[in-house]
Amino acid sequence: MTTPATGPLIVAVGGGKGGVGKSAISANLAAAMARQGFRVTAVDADLGSANLHTMLGVDDPGPTLHGLLEGRLQSLEEAVVATPVPRLFLVPGSNALPGSANLAHARKLKLIRHIRKLDTDAVVVDCGAGIGFNVIDFFNLADRRLLVATPQLVSLQNCYGFVKACAYRGMRACAQTASQRELLKATSSQSETERVSQLLPRVRGQDPQLADVLEHFLGGFGVTLLGNMLDGQGEHNPLHAIARMVRDFLAVEVDVFGGIRRTPLVHGSVSRRRPFICDNMTDPAARVMMRLAEDLLETDLHAVRARQAERGQPTSGAPGALADDKSLPGPLATYEREHERFAVDWEVELRLGDAKHQGEALDVSCGGARLMWVGEVEPGDAIQVTFAEHPDLGAFEAQVIHLDGNTRGVQFRGSDVAERTAELVRRAQGEAPVRSASLDAASAAPAG
Ligand SMILES: Nc1ncnc2c1ncn2[C@@H]1O[C@H](COP(=O)(O)OP(=O)(O)OP(=O)(O)O)[C@@H](O)[C@H]1O
Ligand SMILES: [Mg+2]
Repeated sequence: MTTPATGPLIVAVGGGKGGVGKSAISANLAAAMARQGFRVTAVDADLGSANLHTMLGVDDPGPTLHGLLEGRLQSLEEAVVATPVPRLFLVPGSNALPGSANLAHARKLKLIRHIRKLDTDAVVVDCGAGIGFNVIDFFNLADRRLLVATPQLVSLQNCYGFVKACAYRGMRACAQTASQRELLKATSSQSETERVSQLLPRVRGQDPQLADVLEHFLGGFGVTLLGNMLDGQGEHNPLHAIARMVRDFLAVEVDVFGGIRRTPLVHGSVSRRRPFICDNMTDPAARVMMRLAEDLLETDLHAVRARQAERGQPTSGAPGALADDKSLPGPLATYEREHERFAVDWEVELRLGDAKHQGEALDVSCGGARLMWVGEVEPGDAIQVTFAEHPDLGAFEAQVIHLDGNTRGVQFRGSDVAERTAELVRRAQGEAPVRSASLDAASAAPAG
């Protein structure tokens, strides 16, 4: 991570729904970053139900972020307290503000300015629940945005609604003139049904310059999605489905990083007031947190800041109602059909009963592969697949689920397969870290 002159990396944690683990993830993410040698400051921006100090074992929080907002503190630095975790500091939140109270625009910008001036390498901001303006603005103004969602439908609906509210508020903030504001206002009233991919050409027809700015904003407005409280291996499918839906309808790139299973470790650590990652480094959940911390810390901050500067400071004061939209634009199931696939050009050796075949893999995913070979086969047939370029991964047991001429879709089988498919996908992606794999690895581990 590069920090000079740009200030600390700011990571915002949000997700719409209450109780999905945003604070627990914030505390552990901050601890994971600190464990990697960085000075990290967790900021409790959950105005209304601040509890990060409890999760981080800080007994007497003293001055809070509210002190700065009320003008009692000259600088946010005055509210920073050490936590029992080495290199991890906290700006405690306050419950003095009702969660729904909207902060004046100037106060929000002041807070962001002070966060950027903190003498630290990275900041993790727990934005709290809901889709109020405060939450959205803190989320939108960060360098990296982490969504936390559970695989339950209500959480996914809230998550979609949250990204939608963030994207539309961000787009409205791009409007510089009264006519642009008017254009976007008319646009947002149709946003219930209109895809952003349909909206942009319409805006372009009337104001090409604004369309460019919106495209630039959306292009840089990526979010990272972390699943939490997963109960089984199949539960990553809804996360990928919602990611595709967001991409499709909102033109926002969602990177599904993986997931943390439901585990007494997390729950117990909240009661013990110490991030679980501090004492359970070998646990799969801790490994996911460490990988996530690493990924975020590798952010090219100069590039992010340059992009922000290009489009000007994203403002939070743009008017426009937030759609309190709890519904999805269509059935999630239509997006749930498959894992993310990665194109490959690999030779495969296949075994069906006693017959052996040579073939090609066209793409692979965490769940299966698309293969091409010549030979009789029926859907439901069991097959063994070895990837010739990757013999060290061994043979994959699979089932044929789809036929399209000589191109056949197969699904990997077996309880031991998650780690190997994760590696397979990682190789398919080249050097890029694999997202869904961390989820599979985590959820394949026995609960507890
Ligand atoms: N992976 C997990 N396994 C088991 N319990 C978990 C897990 N993640 C979070 N929890 C528990 O869920 C509860 C809610 O977590 P947390 O307070 O972090 O949620 P939140 O999203 O911050 O809630 P709020 O919106 O109210 O701020 C806590 O009791 C926490 O211990
Ligand atoms: Mg919370």
